[in-house]
Order: sequence, then C-alpha cells, then structure tokens
Amino acid sequence: MIEVVSVLLLVLLVSVSDAKVTKRNIENFLQCLSSRTSLDNPITEALYTRDNSTFVSSYVSYTQNKRFLNPNNTNLIAIVAAKHESHVQATVVCSKSNGIQIRIRSGGHDYEGLSYTSSVQFVLLDMHNLRTITVDVSKKKAWVQAGATLGELYTKIAESSKTLAFPAGVCSTVGAGGHISGGGYGNLIRQYGISVDHVIDAQLVDANGKILNRSTMGEDLFWAIRGGGGSSFGVILSWKINLVVVPKTLTVFNVNKTLEQGATDVLYKWQLVSSKLPKKLFLRAMPEIANRPKSGEKTIAVKFYAQFLGPAAQLVSIINKNLPELGLKREDCYEMSWLNTTMFWMNFPAGTPTSVLLNRTSGPPGAFYKSKSDYVKKPIPKEGIKKMWKTMLKFNNMFMQWNPYGGVMDRIPANATAFPHRKGNLFKIQYFALWTDANATDSNLGLMKELYDVAEPYVSSNPREAFLNYRDIDVGSNPSGETNAEEAKNYGSKYFLGNLKRLMDVKAKCDPDNFFRYEQSIPPVHAM
Ligand SMILES: Cc1cc2nc3c(=O)[nH]c(=O)nc-3n(C[C@H](O)[C@H](O)[C@H](O)COP(=O)(O)OP(=O)(O)OC[C@H]3O[C@@H](n4cnc5c(N)ncnc54)[C@H](O)[C@@H]3O)c2cc1C
Ligand SMILES: *[C@@H]1O[C@H](CO)[C@@H](O)[C@H](O)[C@H]1NC(C)=O
Ligand SMILES: *[C@@H]1O[C@H](CO)[C@@H](O)[C@H](O)[C@H]1NC(C)=O
Ligand SMILES: *[C@@H]1O[C@H](CO)[C@@H](O)[C@H](O)[C@H]1NC(C)=O
Ligand SMILES: *[C@@H]1O[C@H](CO)[C@@H](O)[C@H](O)[C@H]1NC(C)=O
Ligand SMILES: *[C@@H]1O[C@H](CO)[C@@H](O)[C@H](O)[C@H]1NC(C)=O
Ligand SMILES: *[C@@H]1O[C@H](CO)[C@@H](O)[C@H](O)[C@H]1NC(C)=O
Ligand SMILES: *[C@@H]1O[C@H](CO)[C@@H](O)[C@H](O)[C@H]1NC(C)=O
Ligand SMILES: *[C@@H]1O[C@H](CO)[C@@H](O)[C@H](O)[C@H]1NC(C)=O
Repeated sequence: MIEVVSVLLLVLLVSVSDAKVTKRNIENFLQCLSSRTSLDNPITEALYTRDNSTFVSSYVSYTQNKRFLNPNNTNLIAIVAAKHESHVQATVVCSKSNGIQIRIRSGGHDYEGLSYTSSVQFVLLDMHNLRTITVDVSKKKAWVQAGATLGELYTKIAESSKTLAFPAGVCSTVGAGGHISGGGYGNLIRQYGISVDHVIDAQLVDANGKILNRSTMGEDLFWAIRGGGGSSFGVILSWKINLVVVPKTLTVFNVNKTLEQGATDVLYKWQLVSSKLPKKLFLRAMPEIANRPKSGEKTIAVKFYAQFLGPAAQLVSIINKNLPELGLKREDCYEMSWLNTTMFWMNFPAGTPTSVLLNRTSGPPGAFYKSKSDYVKKPIPKEGIKKMWKTMLKFNNMFMQWNPYGGVMDRIPANATAFPHRKGNLFKIQYFALWTDANATDSNLGLMKELYDVAEPYVSSNPREAFLNYRDIDVGSNPSGETNAEEAKNYGSKYFLGNLKRLMDVKAKCDPDNFFRYEQSIPPVHAM
C-alpha cells in the first residue's frame, strides 16, 4: 500500500515539473507579492526584476564560485532580497500558488551553486538583508538571522564578551542560513562539536507561508533542519544558539613540511594521533601544491594548523610529546583572542584590523572551484598517501584539509541531529581545486574525479560518506525541479546515512507537495 502511494506520488512529482511557467504566472506572482505584503514594509524595496538596473549586480553579488557565474541567467524570473519576514512569507505563498520554483540564498557559498542556479525558471529568495544578531551574555545565548555571516556573528560575540564563542566554520563570508542547517564544521569541533549541537530554537517559514518556531514546528522538523539542509524543509529566518566558553587567550600555529622534508611520514603519524589528542587541541593537516624553494619545481607542502584552548607552553609540550616529528618550537606559536584566531585561520597577516571580518562580499567571484569530501576510519597507508600525491601533483592549484575528529564527536549519537558523521571517524578530508581560467574547468573536474578514485580504497564505503556542506553534485542528483526518490536515496544515504529515513518522513509530513525541492533535496515519500 505504502509503495503504491509513493509510486503515485513520484508520477505526480515528475508531471508537476513539466508544467511551464507562463507570462501569466509571473504577472500573477508579482501581483500576489504586493497583495500579500503591507505598505509598512513595501515589497518594492526588496523586489528586483529585469527592469531594475541593479538586477544583475544584485544577482552576482553573492555568487561565490565563478563556475556558476551567469549574469544573463534567463531562468531567473526575479529576486526578492527580503527586508522583512512578510517578504519571505509572500515569496513562498505566491511562488507556490503560481507553480514557480524558488532558490534560497543566504551567504551564497554553496559549492555547486544550488542556492542561485536552476535549469528551470525560478525566483531567487535572497536573505542577505535579514542579518540581525542579538547576544545575551548573561544567558550565553544569541539569536542570529539567516543572512548574517560568520564574520558578523564572531564579531558580535567578541564585542559582547572576550570568553564566549560559537563553534562554526572558518570562512567569514559564509552565511548562517546554509552553513548551520548543513551542520557547521569548524576548529572547535573536538571540544564542542559542530554548530547544530548548539542550536536551541529556530524560526522558519514553512511551505504554507507560516512562521514556525521550535514549539510550533515540533521536534521532528526541528531535528531535520539541524544537519538535513534547510532548503528541503522551509526558509530559515533565524537560529537561537547557545554560546560556548573559551579562554581569553588561545594559541595557534601554522608550520609546514614539504615532501622533501618528510611530509608523508609526519602526516602518516598525524593520522595515528590527531583524533586522540586532548580535545582542547584541534590540529588540521593541509596538504597543498607548493613550489620548491630553489628550482621552483612543483611539490607538496603539508601545513599543520593548530588551535589550542590554552597557553603556548602547554601546547608545545603536548605536540612535542605526541608528534615530535613536527619539530614545533615555542616561537612558532601565537597567543591571541578567539576573535583573532578566526582571522589567523583565514590567513590574514597579523595586525589586520578585525573589520575585515565584516567584509561581506568580495565582488564578482575571482576563481572557479570544485570540492569533494571523504570520511576516514582507519589510517591511510603510506603507499596510499603517495598515490594521492601523484594525482595531486597533476593539478596547478589544489589543497586538501584533513580535519581531525575524536573528542566530543565520539560521544554525540549519530541520530542526535540530522548530521550523522560522528563516532568512528579518524578525520574528514576536504578536496578543493581552484583555477582562474575557464578553459581549465574540464581538466580540473576530471582530475578531481581521478583523485576521488585513487582515495576510494582508503576511505568510508557502503556508503561512501559525504558532508552536505561540502556539496558535491557527483554523489548523485536529480534534474532541477524533479525529485526521483531512488536517486534521492543515492545522495541521501551518503549525506545522511541512517538519518535519511527520518528526514524523508519529516519531509512527507511538512512539505507533501514537494515545494521546497532542488537537485539534492529530500523526497517527500515515507521511507519504506
Ligand atoms: C570559502 C568557503 C569556506 C567554507 N568553510 C566551511 C567550514 O569551515 N565549515 C563548514 O562546515 N563549511 C564550510 N563551507 C561550506 C559552507 O558551510 C556551505 O557552503 C554552506 O551551505 C554555506 O552557507 P551559505 O548560506 O553561505 O550558502 P548558500 O549558497 O546561500 O546556501 C547553501 C544551501 O543552503 C540553503 N539555504 C541557504 N539559506 C537558507 C535559508 N535561510 N533557509 C533554508 N535554506 C537555506 C541553500 O538553498 C543551499 O541549499 C565553506 C564554503 C566556502 C565557499
Ligand atoms: C525596481 O524597480 C521598480 C520599478 O521601477 C521599483 O519600484 C523598485 O523599487 C526597484 N527595486 C529596488 C529593489 O530598487
Ligand atoms: C550578458 O548581458 C550583457 C548586458 O545585457 C551583455 O553585454 C553580455 O554580452 C551578455 N553576456 C553573455 C555571455 O551573453
Ligand atoms: C513559539 O510561537 C508560538 C506561537 O507564535 C508562541 O506562542 C511561543 O511563545 C513561541 N515560543 C517561543 C519559545 O518563542
Ligand atoms: C613553510 O614554512 C616556512 C617557514 O615558516 C615558510 O617560509 C614557507 O613559506 C612555508 N611554505 C608554505 C608552502 O607555506
Ligand atoms: C587582535 O588583533 C588586533 C589587530 O591586529 C590587535 O590589535 C590585538 O592586540 C589582538 N588582540 C589579541 C588579544 O590578540
Ligand atoms: C573587502 O573586500 C574587497 C573586495 O575583495 C576589498 O577590495 C576591500 O579592500 C575589502 N575591505 C576590507 C576592509 O578588507
Ligand atoms: C537514537 O537512537 C537510539 C537508539 O536506537 C534511540 O534510543 C533514541 O531515541 C534515538 N534518538 C533520537 C533523538 O531519535
Ligand atoms: C581558452 O579557449 C579559447 C577557445 O578555445 C581560446 O580562444 C582562449 O585563448 C583560451 N584562453 C586561455 C587563457 O587559454
């Protein structure tokens, strides 16, 4: 019986997507927007159509990846850069009633551009104007609107307290909307877990245009948006988060070893110790293409970046006991405030004013990029590492991040939130290739596939796990506007493991018409 219903649903879904958006639909949509919003918060201030001279600049301003830069995107009907919650509600209701798809964008960092591109006509709901942050120091809590960036959040927290922080990612221009709903991974992970472990309430606009909070959406939906990706379920307006305690002074370092300096051996040893170090210490290894000092020949340098919630002397002694091969010296270490560590991780030179963290847009994107991810559960043998080097050296510009697990990640159950990658991982790999010439796109995408194949024997399998925030279209996808449940299980099982079933059940309950859909969304069919 259940199977029959879901087959019927699938047929329906596919046929829905065949309907073309007509001129009439668009006129009705625009009219609907006006009638659904009030003159106190006029939609005209938020609405861009092709008639607005700033239409294109507004579209590309939050486009991060040049691979998806398409100023003349003819599928883009309009942009609603919401300035008020009612603008979000109206966009949802009016798009849905006119059979128009939406894309939701907060910071625009989606690696595959899924927040601002589609091969069917769509309206872009851009959240960047909704970015208020309020911090309550005495309660150690904050409300963050979806359009706020991590840099804005970090700055606001540090302005309020020198000993509070929030566990989230490294890049200051990443948006809270996408980042937190996808998990939110950063250098406090071993001590405090990830962003979703500290979300205690949220406001969301559902498929009926209603604003819900934790108590009105219920625990199932609240569970789903913590790691399941917001855009399958609704539009996140804001998050309520718990802040975490950090010392006034932290210590960081960045030292490196090239292949010629024994990088492979040090990295091999790193695999054995990095997930077992005290949880106050996060030691990332970053292999990247580098040039040899004299000859200029290509080599690989493995950079070791550390963040320690304590003083330098203690850090040096921990490292020298557990990873003496690194040859760490006291003078490699820098003590600084938590806010300054966020700049250190972004490679801003010491002395850079903290105001750079508030720089939201970097203009039109400068580079093309592609990312993939893997989870590693047992050490990769040196022969395996060397095979990876061999492919890596074929790139002009690429790096990997090997991010250690362990600490509290081993203690949080895989089903506590929708983000499933917890216990049993030694580390996570991010592969990242970047290039500046459009002609190099095919060769870089090909090399990324090759590297992923080379790594296969050494990483998680059945399924080969992937991190939603490191969006990778290669792990499975549907055409824009369609949701085939079988294909969804393909990418869904890699992103969500055993949590996919509950995510599908939640989706079937809260968005049975599958309004919130995109190439890697959760299908609204009850899991069988
Ligand atoms: C330079 C760079 C550094 C990064 N560093 C890290 C890191 O350290 N740790 C980490 O975990 N990730 C990192 N990421 C990945 C990043 O977390 C994801 O790309 C994340 O989805 C970005 O969120 P966004 O709002 O900026 O992106 P967007 O492109 O705006 O959105 C991404 C996805 O979320 C959906 N979405 C966005 N806003 C909303 C909303 N309000 N409601 C519902 N759905 C929404 C979009 O539709 C899309 O599916 C990095 C990415 C880049 C480009
Ligand atoms: C776009 O143009 C329309 C018509 O001129 C105007 O009313 C609206 O305010 C403009 N939108 C923005 C965001 O400036
Ligand atoms: C995009 O549109 C602009 C302005 O209308 C035009 O100058 C440009 O040539 C177009 N680009 C492409 C790739 O079509
Ligand atoms: C959640 O929303 C309901 C209905 O609007 C409201 O009564 C309730 O106070 C809200 N809960 C919290 C914690 O804000
Ligand atoms: C490695 O570290 C040395 C010494 O700190 C530095 O001079 C060099 O630029 C670094 N190399 C890379 C690739 O970061
Ligand atoms: C943080 O960086 C700023 C700017 O470089 C500097 O003035 C300040 O002293 C630093 N503070 C700490 C605690 O490291
Ligand atoms: C912000 O970014 C822009 C574009 O990259 C750059 O030109 C500008 O100098 C930056 N501002 C600050 C304060 O760093
Ligand atoms: C997670 O799974 C365990 C064991 O199956 C179960 O007891 C628990 O209720 C589940 N937790 C959640 C939040 O679903
Ligand atoms: C890219 O390819 C085009 C078409 O083949 C060619 O005209 C152009 O010179 C190439 N650009 C570079 C930087 O190689």
